[in-house]
Amino acid sequence: MPTSSIPTRQAFDVEELGLRPGSPVAPCVIVIFGASGDLARRELLPSLFELFRKQLLPEAFAIIGVSPDAWTTETFRAAMHGAILEQWADAHVHWTPFAERLSFVRGDATSAQDYAALAEAIAEVQLRFAIPNNVMFHLAVPPALFGPIAGRLGAAGLATSEHGWRRLVVEKPFGRDRTSARDLNRQLREVFGEEQIYRIDHFLGKETVQNMLVFRFANPSFEPVWNRNYIDHVQITVAEDIGIGTRANFYEQTRVVRDMVQNHLLQLLCLTATEPPVSYQATSLRDETVKVLEAVTVVPVDLDGGAARGQYGEGLLDGQRVCGYREEAGVPGDSTTETYAAIKVTLDNWRWAGVPFYLRTGKRLTRKLTEVAIQFKPTPHLMFPVEGGRPSHQSVLVFEVQPNEGIVQTLAAKQPGPDLALRTVTMNFRYAEAFGVEEPPRAYAWLLLDVMQGDQTLFARTDWIDRAWQIIDPIVERWASEPALQFPNYAAGSAGPAAADQLMQRDGRRWRDLSSRSHDGR
Ligand code: BG6
Repeated sequence: MPTSSIPTRQAFDVEELGLRPGSPVAPCVIVIFGASGDLARRELLPSLFELFRKQLLPEAFAIIGVSPDAWTTETFRAAMHGAILEQWADAHVHWTPFAERLSFVRGDATSAQDYAALAEAIAEVQLRFAIPNNVMFHLAVPPALFGPIAGRLGAAGLATSEHGWRRLVVEKPFGRDRTSARDLNRQLREVFGEEQIYRIDHFLGKETVQNMLVFRFANPSFEPVWNRNYIDHVQITVAEDIGIGTRANFYEQTRVVRDMVQNHLLQLLCLTATEPPVSYQATSLRDETVKVLEAVTVVPVDLDGGAARGQYGEGLLDGQRVCGYREEAGVPGDSTTETYAAIKVTLDNWRWAGVPFYLRTGKRLTRKLTEVAIQFKPTPHLMFPVEGGRPSHQSVLVFEVQPNEGIVQTLAAKQPGPDLALRTVTMNFRYAEAFGVEEPPRAYAWLLLDVMQGDQTLFARTDWIDRAWQIIDPIVERWASEPALQFPNYAAGSAGPAAADQLMQRDGRRWRDLSSRSHDGR
C-alpha cells in the first residue's frame, strides 16, 4: 500500500471482483485524439493504466496520443506519468512497462498530412509489439472536431480494416441539439458503421448504475412493486460541489442541460424506468431504453411549472469562501448560463402513468451526491396509532451512485418500549462493506474495456440520442430565449435555487435533503 502523503485511489482487487488476470480483450492500438487535454489526463490514461496493472489489457497493445501541441513522446509520457502519480503514489511499480507502450504524434485534426504520419505510427507500433490490425480511435476533443476527424480517418484509409476491427469512441455531448446531432451522425456514418461507433456516457460505466439493473431484474421482490400502483414518485439527483474549474469556454457553450441532463440524467431515468430487457445485450437493453424516452412527455409545454433553473453566486463550501459562476476565470460578468436545472418528467405508459420523475443537477451545491430515490406510496391503511394522526414514515429505496456507493431501503419498525411507536430504520447495502472495495473501479476503465471487446451495451445508440435531444431542445431554446434576470439565484454551498423547491411544493412534495446524511435513506 502507498505510504506517502500523495492522495491515492484505492485500486480495485481483481480477484475480489471476480476477474481473472489475463485479458479476454483482443490486442489493439488505442489512438487518443486530444491527448494533452483534461480528459486524457484525468480519466483515459489513468483508466488504461489501471487496467494494465491489473493485467486486464491485452498483452499486445499500444497507446498513441495525438494533439496539435508541440509535444514529443517523451513529453507525453512525462505528462501522463504526472497525471497517474497524482492518483496512485505507487504507480512507479508498473510505470516503466506501461510507458514503453505510449507514443505521441503531433497532429492537426484537419491536416491530411498528419493522418499519414498517424498511419505510419500505427503501423510502426503494430510491428514493434506484434499487434494485429485492430485500432480504437478515442475522440477526446471538442464535438466540432468529431466530424472532421472521422472524415480524415476515412480519407486516410484508417476507418476500415480487412483483417481486424476499427472502432470510434466519441465523448458527450453528441451535438448541441437534435439537428446538429443528426448532422454529426451523418458525418460519422459516412465513414463508420453504427456497429463501429461508441457514444460514451461514463455514468453507464459506474458500478451502482449497472447495479440498478441487477437489483431490479435479478431479485424477484422488486419488479412486482415497480410501477404506478406502489411508487409515488422518483427523484434523480446529480449534485456536485465543484464549480466549473477551468472549463469556462466549454461550459458557456454547453450549459447544465446539455452537459448533464441530456445524457447522464436521462440515462439514469431510463435505467430506473425501463421494462425488463430480454437479455443483457446491446440490442435488447438499448431497445428498451429508447422506449422509455419515447414515453417521456415533452416538458416545456408548461416550463414554468415543470422546470427550474439556477446559477451559483459566491458562497461558503466546507467553510471556504468560493466565487460565484460569473467570477470564474473566463466567464463573462453578465453570463446568464445555467449551472443548475430541475425538471419534472412524466412517462406516458402503463407502468408509469401519473408517477412524476423529478430530475435535478447543479454545480457548487452542498456536496457531491448522485442518487436515484424511489419514493413508495404509503400503505393503504395503517392500523397502528401514529403521532399527530399522520404517519411520518416514508418508504424510500435509494440507489446511491456516489460517493457512498450502495443501496438503502427505509422500513418502519417498532421502537423498543411499552408503546407501539413506529420509527424509520434502514437496511443498508454498501459496496465498501459487502465487497471490500473502498472505491469501485473507475467507470472509464470498464467502458474502454467494453469498446475493446466490441460490446455496445452501455453506449448510446443513435435513436436514443435523437430522442434525448428532442426532449431537451425545447428547454434549452426556452431558457435561451428568456435569459434569467435574477441570476445568480443560489449561493455556492446551498441546496439550489428557491425555484426548484417551488417546483416540488406545487406538487405537494419536497426534495430529499442534500446535506450530509448518515446514510439512513431519508
Ligand atoms: C461530465 C460533465 O460529463 O460529468 C462534468 O461534463 C461533470 O461537468 C462530470 O462534472 C461529473 O462526473 P462524475 O463522474 O464526477 O459524477
